Amino acid sequence: MNKNDLTRRQFIAAASAGSLAAVASKTLPAYANIGKKAGILAIKGGRPVRTRSWPSWPIWDKKHDEDLVLSVLRSGVWSRNKVVAEFEKKYAELMGAKRCLATTNGTNALLTSLHVLGVGIGDEVLVPPYTFIATIDVIFLSGALPIMVDTDPETFQINPDKIEEKISEHSRAILPVHILGLPANMDKINAIARKHNLLVVEDACQAWMAEWRGKKCGTLGDLGCFSFQNSKNLPCGEGGAILGDDDEIMDKCYSYHNFGRPYGSVTGRGHAIMGTKCRMAEYQAAILLAQMKRLEKQTQTRNENAKYLTSRIKDIPGIIPHKLYDGVTRAAYHLYPFRYKKEYFHNVPRSKFIAALRAEGIPCSSGYNRINKGDFFENALQSKNFRKTYSKKRLDRCRQLNYCPDDERLCDEAVWFFHSILLGTKRDMDDIADAILKIYENRDKLA
Ligand SMILES: Cc1ncc(COP(=O)(O)O)c(C=O)c1O
Repeated sequence: MNKNDLTRRQFIAAASAGSLAAVASKTLPAYANIGKKAGILAIKGGRPVRTRSWPSWPIWDKKHDEDLVLSVLRSGVWSRNKVVAEFEKKYAELMGAKRCLATTNGTNALLTSLHVLGVGIGDEVLVPPYTFIATIDVIFLSGALPIMVDTDPETFQINPDKIEEKISEHSRAILPVHILGLPANMDKINAIARKHNLLVVEDACQAWMAEWRGKKCGTLGDLGCFSFQNSKNLPCGEGGAILGDDDEIMDKCYSYHNFGRPYGSVTGRGHAIMGTKCRMAEYQAAILLAQMKRLEKQTQTRNENAKYLTSRIKDIPGIIPHKLYDGVTRAAYHLYPFRYKKEYFHNVPRSKFIAALRAEGIPCSSGYNRINKGDFFENALQSKNFRKTYSKKRLDRCRQLNYCPDDERLCDEAVWFFHSILLGTKRDMDDIADAILKIYENRDKLA
């Protein structure tokens, strides 16, 4: 891109945002296409780039999947039994973990993990703000304080270089989230955890089959947690799992999730330990066994399409695709994210860009809001239990440390595509890239 393409004000804005070099160096190699897709924007009444539908989600095989679910229904055994045990065995094998415990959902997988590892009242848990609400909720529900570590805007993950500055004598665990199905930097996170004697509970609720240096996400910390909610790449409506290699800890997880009844090394009369109930049901496991058969192939397709899409959009000025860390050998792509820099689009706000892209027939969304600014956060800190448990100094520290400027910017710039879109063809990816290009070419009409 030639800097003359920007007005002076925009150029200064871009430059002061630290992107002067990018502005100056953005030539237009991909712009053989410019002009081809030019035309009236769909949002202004023109013909959309894409009129065909997209792959829907979830998908299932009528014969095979329905037979599996029906056989559970007809057995009359619906509560946890052999089908759940079979799923646990197969999921542990697939992921390369010694043990798997199925749960009602990802939230309870996380809660169980924190409880069994002893994270609770008085503790601080280091966590990224760029995540789904449940990640933060489980820390509060455990009685601990979430200490937010700013986001690396290039990868959308917890910034590993900003963890240590937030560690204190109260820190007990790091809760990295492989958000959007893209792996967090587990080399750095585990090294920091070892150095400071912290636990690592991975929130892999969006990261089935994602890998860090050939090992699956969810098997890289002390425990790893997954969600199988309806929208997920491995769905069963509601469901979750914990992966772990330590028999004693996994026995405790089992016992805790089953009213504290004795299990393996957890012994005692009646109910051995305090517990809850978050057992997976048989029909949930039946759906998962069916879904699992397609997961490897789907993951491959998502990765291939994501790579191709990145190659098509990376040179469009103002469109910055996510990066993967060097240690990532595979992503799960629950979502495909990029950043939208409005200064390259005549300052057209992101909401307008998204509306224009949707009008071109490309489903997309703006992603997470600033979680540290949510009312729930202050309400939790001001709740009776937290005021009773923590000094004002500790609560204030939690408030102050949760300032995450990079995350705030990312929340304003992110654009997401849902994973089922990546299950299509290269031509589908071309439609996405062409639609973005068309909007770029016609950005003056949106301004
Ligand atoms: C990152 C993350 N953590 C935790 C959860 C909670 O999982 P569930 O909805 O299965 O309770 C989700 C689910 O959406 C998630 O995306």
